[in-house]
Formats: sequence, C-alpha cells, structure tokens
Amino acid sequence: MRLLRRKTKKHGLDTSRDLPVHIAVIMDGNGRWAARRGLPRNAGHREGANTLKRVVKECNAIGIKYLTAFAFSTENWNRPRQEVNALMQLLLEFLQNAEKELAGTNIRITVIGDTDKLSEEIRNEIDRVVANTAANTGLNLVIALNYGSRCEIAAAAARIARDVREGRIEPEDVDEELFSNYLYTSGIPDPDLVIRPSGEYRLSNFLLWQSSYSEFWYSDILWPDFSKEHLYQAISDYQNRNRRFGGL
Ligand code: FPP
Repeated sequence: MRLLRRKTKKHGLDTSRDLPVHIAVIMDGNGRWAARRGLPRNAGHREGANTLKRVVKECNAIGIKYLTAFAFSTENWNRPRQEVNALMQLLLEFLQNAEKELAGTNIRITVIGDTDKLSEEIRNEIDRVVANTAANTGLNLVIALNYGSRCEIAAAAARIARDVREGRIEPEDVDEELFSNYLYTSGIPDPDLVIRPSGEYRLSNFLLWQSSYSEFWYSDILWPDFSKEHLYQAISDYQNRNRRFGGL
C-alpha cells in the first residue's frame, strides 16, 4: 500500500485519493500584484492569464476533469473602458493561441456566460476553439465570460417560464435537476472546490447555485503568484475535509 501511494504521489500531493473532479477559481488580485510592482493593472491581468495557463496544464496533468475560471463577470463592464478593452484583448489572444499553447494536452475548452454581449471577433474565436477541442477527453477548461450567477439564474427562470407557457413542460416538472439543466453549466458537475486567492472572502456572483456544497479555499496570495504548490495545498486541504452534504 505504501509502495502504491508513493508511486501515485506527485510532489507531495497524493493523486491516488479523492481528487476534486471540478475545481473553480476566482482569479483575483491581478491589479494589486501590478500596483505593488509599479506596473499598470493590465500587466497584472496579463500575468494572471499566464498563471491560468500553468494551472490548466497542472490540473490536466494530475487528472482533474473540470477547471472553471472566472475570467470576466457581468459586473466587470463597470471598470474603466481601457481596462475592459485590455481584458477583452487578453481573452482574444488566449483563445487565438489556445490550441497552439495547449497542443498535445487533450484539453477541451468550453465557455459559460452571456456571450451575446461580446464582440463578434471574440464570439467567432469561442466558436472555433470550442468546436476544435470538443472531442478532447482531458481536462475541460470552462471559461466564465460575461458570467454572473444572478443573471444566469434569472435567464434560466425566464426560459423555464417560456417552456411552460408553450406547453413543453409542466410547472410540476420544475425540480432541482430540471433547473440545473437550464443553467449555462448544464452537463457540468458542481464544483467540489472553489479557490479564491487575494485575501477576499466572497463569491462575487460566481456559481451561486452550483457551489451549494463546494469546499472553499482562501489565501492571501495574489492570483499572478498562485503556483503549483498553492494548487497542491488547496487540493490536499480539500482531501482532508469531511464532506457531509447536509447528512451526518
Ligand atoms: C480580478 O482581479 C480579475 C479579473 C477581473 C480578471 C481576471 C482575468 C484574467 C486573469 C486574465 C484574462 C483571462 C483569460 C482567460 C485570458 P482584480 O483586477 O480585481 O485585482 P485587484 O482586486 O487586485 O484589483
């Protein structure tokens, strides 16, 4: 048994036991990371995008099945135009280079959020990357883009109301499972572990429905400094939690 454990241990993380299937990350602290170095906020976002690429590859390597990254919230439009434009440019570059950078990794990319509000150029890139990686069977990187939980839940309720009105379902059919199927995350298991760095302790309108029974991991580390060791620490802490889902 000890021999088996040693074989499957990767740099101190025991990948043979109870890995989270789905990890969700709130990539917070980019602005502060940049400010501490006297750099513009956009430099922090750029470094944050690099951190995401490293985390994606690491999660894939250890066998995590889903990683959801909060890249742009429905509230982020309220930031100065210059910052919004810089974030959109980063997203575009990320999508354009995704296959090249993730080549050979078997990673699949999907997007959740209200993509109608994004530029045509970004929407075309999303369609292209999602289609090109759809058959991959490794990690599913879920990019939350123009995503907000309240908006998602309200949109689901509106679609359910429409389907009831048009006779496709009955009000009695509406239960938790049906409701889940109307969310952007339909078909994606709920996150087991939600990681929020940068010393903030809130969900910020991220996966409110889906994280009902998620384990949370907080840290003062700023997202651009988030390393493989922090990821392993978060997963290892998760492995030592006692999840009861409301039972005993
Ligand atoms: C929050 O940090 C971060 C964001 C609003 C954007 C996150 C986006 C990226 C990491 C890069 C783009 C994503 C992809 C997929 C390429 P903050 O700016 O609020 O930091 P602060 O609280 O220190 O100011």
